[in-house]
Amino acid sequence: MKIYLNGEIVSRGEARIDPFDRGFVFGDGVYEGLRAFDGRVVGLSGHVARLASGLAATGIPWDASLLGGVCERLLEANSLRDAFIYMQCTRGAPGPGEPVRSRVAAGPIRPTIFAYATPTPGLNTYAATPTKRAITTPDTRWLRGLIKSISLMGSVLAAYEAEAAGCDDAILIRTMPGGEKLAAEGTSANLIAVVPAPDGTQIVTPPLDGAPILAGVTRDILLAAAARRGVEIAVRNLPEHELLAAREIMLCGTLTMVTAITHLNGKPVGEGAPGPETNRLLRVLVEAIGQGA
Ligand SMILES: Cc1ncc(COP(=O)(O)O)c(C=O)c1O
Repeated sequence: MKIYLNGEIVSRGEARIDPFDRGFVFGDGVYEGLRAFDGRVVGLSGHVARLASGLAATGIPWDASLLGGVCERLLEANSLRDAFIYMQCTRGAPGPGEPVRSRVAAGPIRPTIFAYATPTPGLNTYAATPTKRAITTPDTRWLRGLIKSISLMGSVLAAYEAEAAGCDDAILIRTMPGGEKLAAEGTSANLIAVVPAPDGTQIVTPPLDGAPILAGVTRDILLAAAARRGVEIAVRNLPEHELLAAREIMLCGTLTMVTAITHLNGKPVGEGAPGPETNRLLRVLVEAIGQGA
């Protein structure tokens, strides 16, 4: 595997990163996860915009518009057309003689940019909806969910808890300052649920200003594509009790695409199989990507 490190394409064995890098010792960095289908990166402008806002929020000096070029170089170096591309940008390592535990860097330091690409299934493999079993668990992550921070301990621990329960993922429940419990998102994907409503059902996804969540690029593509096709998705808070009574639950994300949660806390969701709205939203996403989203 050829990786990207600070402007160079090198083999993994050749790559050298300073052990004092603040990404390694502090988790001081931001990242992006992107997907290429047939050589084209999905939602590149959304990823660039989110990275730029994360870099601005953290004060890490890197030009997010270089992201597309990094992806292209990795795809080419690894002869990949269908791939997941991971890129992280840390604040870098202090120079010799500079304090290594100082939370505030002693002077301007050069960010460390690391990226790799790994093969993933092509768009035509999404004829059937992928499925997962999930648990719900308290959301113990930090409050700045919009920053795609490389510090992922909260979601790592939730994923371990899911695994210990024989499941694939966790849906995180945030207790808000007033005590309300809101379903937020999965450990690495956004949440959509089909819940009972007075006139049938409603498709709901949590907003960016409720429980802290990541502004998913896939969520954005899906919201826009669904709206164009007349499929209404309400962006509103999703209380835990509504999630637990949902007819369908799905997660959406770059690697997740649209994945049905067939069982929640050991109980079937609806029929315990991907429901009609979940299947429909996966088709909407695949079509939007196929049309150049
Ligand atoms: C916590 C979290 N929410 C949502 C997402 C989905 O975002 P995207 O659609 O941009 O992959 C991710 C992706 O990594 C994530 O980690």
